[in-house]
Amino acid sequence: MPEPQVTVNGQARPLAGVPVHTNVLDLLRGLGLTGAKEGCAEGECGACAVLVARPDGAGTRWTPVNACLVPAAALDGQEVVTAEGLGSPGNLHPVQAELAVRGGSQCGYCTPGFVCSMAAEYYRADRASLADPDAGPDPEHGPNGFDLHAIGGNLCRCTGYRPIRDAAWALGAPVPGDPLAERQSGPAPAPVATRLDGFARPADLAEALSLLAEHPDATVVAGSTDWGVEANLRGRRAAYVVAVDRVPELRGLSTDGPDGPGGALEIGAALTLSEVERGLGDSVPLLAQVWPLFASRLIRNSATIGGNLATASPIGDLAPALLALEARLVLASADGDREVPLAAFFTGYRTTVLRPGELVRSVRVPTPLARLTTFRKVAKRRYDDISSVAVGAAFDVVDGTVVRARIGLGGVAATPLRALRTEAVLEGRAWGEETVEEAATVLASEGTPIDDQRASAAYRSAMLGNALRAWWADLAGQEVAR
Ligand SMILES: Cc1cc2nc3c(=O)[nH]c(=O)nc-3n(C[C@H](O)[C@H](O)[C@H](O)COP(=O)(O)OP(=O)(O)OC[C@H]3O[C@@H](n4cnc5c(N)ncnc54)[C@H](O)[C@@H]3O)c2cc1C
Ligand code: FES
Ligand code: FES
Repeated sequence: MPEPQVTVNGQARPLAGVPVHTNVLDLLRGLGLTGAKEGCAEGECGACAVLVARPDGAGTRWTPVNACLVPAAALDGQEVVTAEGLGSPGNLHPVQAELAVRGGSQCGYCTPGFVCSMAAEYYRADRASLADPDAGPDPEHGPNGFDLHAIGGNLCRCTGYRPIRDAAWALGAPVPGDPLAERQSGPAPAPVATRLDGFARPADLAEALSLLAEHPDATVVAGSTDWGVEANLRGRRAAYVVAVDRVPELRGLSTDGPDGPGGALEIGAALTLSEVERGLGDSVPLLAQVWPLFASRLIRNSATIGGNLATASPIGDLAPALLALEARLVLASADGDREVPLAAFFTGYRTTVLRPGELVRSVRVPTPLARLTTFRKVAKRRYDDISSVAVGAAFDVVDGTVVRARIGLGGVAATPLRALRTEAVLEGRAWGEETVEEAATVLASEGTPIDDQRASAAYRSAMLGNALRAWWADLAGQEVAR
C-alpha cells in the first residue's frame, strides 16, 4: 500500500503521523499555508474553503469544500489547491486580480475562501455556455454566467458584497494553457484505500462491512459535515473512523432500480448533494426545489444523502422531501441487504433502525413520480439556514380529484414524519380551495412541535397549515389535473 499523502498545490505532503482528528484546515496551516482561515469551525463562514479535484464524468471538477470539516486523512491520494496555489502576489490569479482591483477585499480574512469558491465557478465548464451578455438584469447570475450561489457559503464581515459581486461578474474565461482548466479534462484521482492510525478508507463495501465488524466502536463518516462540527465544537473523538464517502457500491445513480426498467430511481448514499443535484437535473422536481435551500454550495459539495438521513435530525431537509416521495432505504450489512421504508427508518430523536455494523447503501424513489410536488422550508433566512419547519408534498390529481397525497414533515416532532391524518383528509376529495383549507387546518395539528430558539410551537403549527395554503395560492390558475 503506498504511503498516505495528499498533493497540495502540486506538492506531495505525507499524512502518516497526522493525528486522526486533524482537519484539512489545520493540516494546511501547519504546513505554512495560512491563507485559509478558521472563522467558525462549523461550515458557516467559508473562510477555510479550498479546492479539491473531484470526479465529474470522465474528467475533473475543481470543487470547493470547507476545509475545517474534512478530516485530513480523508484526502489521502487526493489533490488540493489553496489560494496560495492559485496565484502569488506577483502573479495573481484572475479571481484574485479582480477582487483586488474592484475593492473586494479589506481586512482579507475571508478573501482566500472567497477566492477558492470563485475559482471553482470560474472553472465550471458550463458557466460560459450559460452566459448571456444581452440578458436583462438577473440578481443571481452575472453576464458571464457566474452563479452567485457559488459564494453563498462565504461570509464577509467588512467589505460588503457588492464589490465582491462586481469582481465575480467581471471574470472572463480561463485562457488557453491555464493549468487548472487543463487539469479538468483528465480524470480525478481515483479513491485509494487508506490505513492510518485510527482511520480507514475501505476500498469497497465488503471491506467497509468487515472493518465495521472488526471495530464495533467505529464511527462512520461520509462528507463529515455533521461529524466535523461534532469534532470541532463539541470535542467528540472517535475510537476509530471508517470513511465511506468513496465506497463505489455507495456511489451509483440509476433510474432503473434493481427490479427492472423504470421501477425506481436509485441514489447511492455516499453521493454528495451536489452530485445528486447534477445527476438528477430537473427529473425529480421536488428534490430540485430542495437543493438551493439546503445549506450552501460549499456544504452540498461534501454533505451526502446517506449522511443526511443517517444522522436522523428532526430538522434535516431531505427526509420531508423523500417521505413525500415514499422513498425506501437499502441497508447493507454482513448479512446482506434489506430494504426499509424511510417512514419506518427513524425510531426516535436521532435514532434509526440501523443495526451495529450496518450502512445505508442507497435511497430508492419509486416511479412514476407524483405529478404535483412542492417543498416548503421555513427558516430565519431564505438561504443557508436550518429549517424551523419543512414540508414536502407529492400529490396525484386525476380529473380534479386527489387520488394520492403524501406529505413529509420536518421540525414538528422528534423525528421527521408523514402527515397521515392530512393525507387521509385529502385523498378522494376534489382538489379545490375548500379541501385545501380543511386539510391545512388538520396539517397545523400534525406532530408535537416544541418551543425552542428557532421558533415557537405555535409558529411551527401555523407554518405547516400555511405551507399548504401558500402552495395552493402559487398553483392558482394552473391546470393540475391529468
Ligand atoms: C453549515 C451547515 C449547514 C447545514 N445546513 C443544512 C440544511 O440546510 N439542511 C439539512 O438538512 N442539513 C444541513 N446541515 C447538516 C448536514 O450538512 C447534513 O446532515 C449532511 O447531509 C450530512 O451528511 P455527511 O455526509 O456530511 O454526514 P457525516 O457528517 O459524514 O455523517 C453524519 C452521520 O451519518 C452517519 N452516516 C453517514 N453516511 C452513512 C451511511 N452511508 N450509512 C450509515 N451511516 C452513515 C455517520 O455515522 C454520522 O453519524 C448543515 C450542516 C452544516 C455544517
Ligand atoms: S472556518 Fe468557517 S466554514 Fe470553516
Ligand atoms: S474582507 Fe474582511 S471579512 Fe471580508
